[in-house]
Amino acid sequence: MAASLHLNVPFNLKPAAKQSPRPARISCASPSAASPPKRYSITLLPGDGIGPEVISVAKNVLKLAGSLEGIEFSFQEMPMGGAAFDLTGSPLPEETLLAAQKADAVLLGAIGGYKWDKNEKHLKPETGLLQLREGLKVFANLRPATVLPQLVDSSTLKKDVAEGVDLMVVRELTGGIYFGKPRGFGTNEKGDEMGFNTEVYATYEIDRIARVAFEIARKRRGQLCSVDKANVLEALQFTVGSNSILEGTAAKQAMMRSSKILTCYSFMSCFCRDEASMLWRKRVTAVAADYPDVELSHMYVDNAAMQLVRYPKQFDTIVTNNIFGDILSDEASMITGSIGMLPSASLGESGPGLFEPIHGSAPDIAGQDKANPLATILSAAMLLKYGLGEANAAQRIENAVLDTLNKGFRTGDIYSAGNKLVGCKEMGEEVLKSVDSPVPATR
Ligand code: IPM
Ligand code: MG
Repeated sequence: MAASLHLNVPFNLKPAAKQSPRPARISCASPSAASPPKRYSITLLPGDGIGPEVISVAKNVLKLAGSLEGIEFSFQEMPMGGAAFDLTGSPLPEETLLAAQKADAVLLGAIGGYKWDKNEKHLKPETGLLQLREGLKVFANLRPATVLPQLVDSSTLKKDVAEGVDLMVVRELTGGIYFGKPRGFGTNEKGDEMGFNTEVYATYEIDRIARVAFEIARKRRGQLCSVDKANVLEALQFTVGSNSILEGTAAKQAMMRSSKILTCYSFMSCFCRDEASMLWRKRVTAVAADYPDVELSHMYVDNAAMQLVRYPKQFDTIVTNNIFGDILSDEASMITGSIGMLPSASLGESGPGLFEPIHGSAPDIAGQDKANPLATILSAAMLLKYGLGEANAAQRIENAVLDTLNKGFRTGDIYSAGNKLVGCKEMGEEVLKSVDSPVPATR
């Protein structure tokens, strides 16, 4: 059966190349010698743990795939995460954010590690990542999960459950409980310490991510499943500036009970316009009217988590909020065999996209040449396709990854008997050999 990585969702949130535009090509033929090279600036954020190893491999692959398509890159490497904290005292130095904002695209390795786990919240590597996403305004996070026939035996699910799975999680990335206010610590009337966060979405945030998801579903198999917890959560809609009607909510009660918090948040005066509505579901349903060709279904997140391991083939495109998307995309990754295989693209309405593997910094194997670089290499393919509109160069990388797997090369996370166990660098070298291969990969 033919299988592809399906990174090729023909959906762009923003126009492609700004330099030396050339007519679109539909073949993989090398550009003629006369074509002036296209130039793009890429900000590389290697980060922590295995980040630097996988970024150095992916950079070489990106360079070669680009050069074969008449593209030149200028790379600027900037500190990010724990490494940046050690160097500058901040997990996202201003210079790093500025360099990212100015680039044509940003490729990130991974951030975080035990060393910084006890940092104060605002100095944690994870906080730097959230600030980067916010600073780049990349609200749409695309996380494809495809089970490749070559890796079906690496899945922890039974072969007949895993094979043929090809889904896309569209995760809202700059809102919800990750960013919602009020948030903080306090004490309740019994003197117990408590922490609280707010899951909050405004209509415009839901509408725009829903539109991205409908566009993607329309170009895939035409099915969109919106995942929420509308049987329990309101996801309140706030308009700031009116009289305080947070009264009665846990957050407000928490604020009232803690004078410290009350001071912190006393500026917040919110009016909830539509308290009883389950806003996410309501808005996604409303946006669906513009996409009659897409079949919309709704699922509660607990059920979705169960269905993903029960019968994952039922899913085509999933759209969900920030926190459910974080959880479900990790779960979906395991169906494919390894989290080390999954790339992601984070896009906004304008400006550079942010491309990163969904795995973390894996400090336990950092610096040992054991990491799987394929998720970062495939993130580079997404960068070419979604970030720069360079579909041919992206296709070269996707083909090369499949080719390398067909030849039996495997890092430890996807190894099975009969294959060749390689480290991060060797895997990268094998992909490089295949990038230049004139023979299309057997899929
Ligand atoms: C992810 C990660 C991040 C997130 C962490 C590192 C902040 O888990 O990209 O999925 O929760 O978004
Ligand atoms: Mg995650």
